[in-house]
Amino acid sequence: MQYDEEIIQTVKDAADIVEIVGETVNLKKNGTNYKGLCPFHSEKTPSFNVNPNRNLFYCFGCGEGGDPLKFVMLSQNLNFVEALKYLAGRYHISLPERDLSPQELEKKRRKDILYDINQQAAAVYHKLLLNDPRALKAREYLVRRGIGDDIVREFELGYAPEGWSFIRQALAGFPETDLLAAGLLTANEKGHTYDRFRDRLLSPIFNHNGRHLAFSGRILGAGEPKYLNSKDSLIFNKSNVLLGLFQNKKAIRAARRCLLVEGNFDILALASHGIRYAAAPMGTALTAVHVRALKGYAEEVIILFDGDTAGIKAAGRAVPIFLSQRLTARVVVLPPEHDPDSFVRKFGAPALEKKLDKAVSLPEFIFNDLEKRYGLSLEGKGRIVEELQPIIRAIADDSLQRTLFISHFSEKLGLRPEQLSERFAATRSLSPPALRKPAVVDSAPFMLSRVEEQLLSFLIIYPNYLDSFLAAGLKDSVSSSGGRHIIEAMVGLAESGAAAEPERLLDFVESPARPFISRKLINAPVLGDEELQTEAEEKINWLRENKLRLEMYGLTERINEAIKNNDNESLMKLLAAKDEMRKKNQQK
Ligand code: CTP
Ligand code: MN
Repeated sequence: MQYDEEIIQTVKDAADIVEIVGETVNLKKNGTNYKGLCPFHSEKTPSFNVNPNRNLFYCFGCGEGGDPLKFVMLSQNLNFVEALKYLAGRYHISLPERDLSPQELEKKRRKDILYDINQQAAAVYHKLLLNDPRALKAREYLVRRGIGDDIVREFELGYAPEGWSFIRQALAGFPETDLLAAGLLTANEKGHTYDRFRDRLLSPIFNHNGRHLAFSGRILGAGEPKYLNSKDSLIFNKSNVLLGLFQNKKAIRAARRCLLVEGNFDILALASHGIRYAAAPMGTALTAVHVRALKGYAEEVIILFDGDTAGIKAAGRAVPIFLSQRLTARVVVLPPEHDPDSFVRKFGAPALEKKLDKAVSLPEFIFNDLEKRYGLSLEGKGRIVEELQPIIRAIADDSLQRTLFISHFSEKLGLRPEQLSERFAATRSLSPPALRKPAVVDSAPFMLSRVEEQLLSFLIIYPNYLDSFLAAGLKDSVSSSGGRHIIEAMVGLAESGAAAEPERLLDFVESPARPFISRKLINAPVLGDEELQTEAEEKINWLRENKLRLEMYGLTERINEAIKNNDNESLMKLLAAKDEMRKKNQQK
């Protein structure tokens, strides 16, 4: 919908650039301005400036700049309207909704009622937990589990007392039908309604903006079910929620990473120990919705799994999701008897953070597990290939991720990529993009010649050929600064020992090269062994020839120079050299 200039300006004016930027960037005062490390390009000395008087930010390093709205769009990856809504919500400015249809308006009104009910219920339950004698055992329970008072307040934990109509009476101002719709009451077959949560410790469930969606209630003693959650409703979908995201998003953004844990008490215990960059699905499988939500905050997710088979299975299912959402994921396995909650309580936060340093990349983790289970005998490989099929299939239509996944695992297994991907190979053209369509020269400021583009796009997908390409004179044929930058990055990648993961090249390049490389990865062809070999040989031969051509060209230039300068001595030598070279060329 179109918003008029006036309301947009109101939102922009209300937003405080220092506050907005300060959530992501560590700002230091610098005269009347603030300075910090730019979040939009990598740098070691701060060139990112915030000017509170003009309510603007600007980076002298990469040239990004603008108002708070622009910053929110860039840093949270939102479009204009989303960013506007975010800021409006944050600074309590109501945006006109005039473009909503009557049905949409009605739905919004219904949702607002449910948010409101859950919010008021949370306040009631919370107050009870803090003060009421009935909540004594809940308070003791929290002490036993090491959850500090500050965390109890910040996460607005509550207690639902025993009895069938506590919350109904506390929220008597709302019609019963609304309390039912919000999930606070349950109806039996006869239509009698009663409080859903009784004698349970309650965690309100928030969306990322802090709206109250639902509750998760833990039993205090033994009994079933251990957790009882609000039923799904107009505002609550259990499998889309990330626990802790609202309370921890600032820390996640600042750390640029997020620990993914399994449940409610993991979040609470970690927070009590000062680890705030964590979130958890509600005991459900990880979905693309979760990962997309995390992507707005973190560059990397570290999954803390139980080392049991369920955990590993869950990790397997998570691979394609992370791959297709292009978020880096690593895995830490805790000792079998521990979950993050018990681990951090027993060993403390530093011990946990030390474990994080040893996190293994998610695909690596899966492969190691398969290798351990089946071994690398011919039969074992067959089994592994079989187990990988559903994952490959699940990567759906994302050719980049499928290519990366297949090339990664086929190399590890010593198989040809198509042995892993037969089912797909049949429907896909095996010719490299360069042969299918004319090469496109990328536009400024990242400029490569056609030749450079062809050479580099091949190497980006098949970095193992880097050495032979270099030996054949790659640097002679790639002279643009962008091309040289990619070569340096590839050398860095090879030195880091990660050449088997082409996608890691993105870690080694500066921003103008990134979209180019991503595009190449996305359009990566799957080549058979023979095709690959032929393709590589052709390119290597061309490099050798071009190197000679260039040398010849250089000599000719110098000869012309010598003639112009009447430098006979040099001229003789150069002509001899040229003869020599010509002979050498003809021998080939
Ligand atoms: N869960 C749920 N409903 C259940 C069981 C679990 O929603 N019936 C969710 C909860 O969010 C829970 C998470 O799944 O936190 C993980 O469940 P589980 O591993 O069984 O419990 P813990 O988190 O270890 O619970 P606690 O530490 O409180 O015993
Ligand atoms: Mn637990």
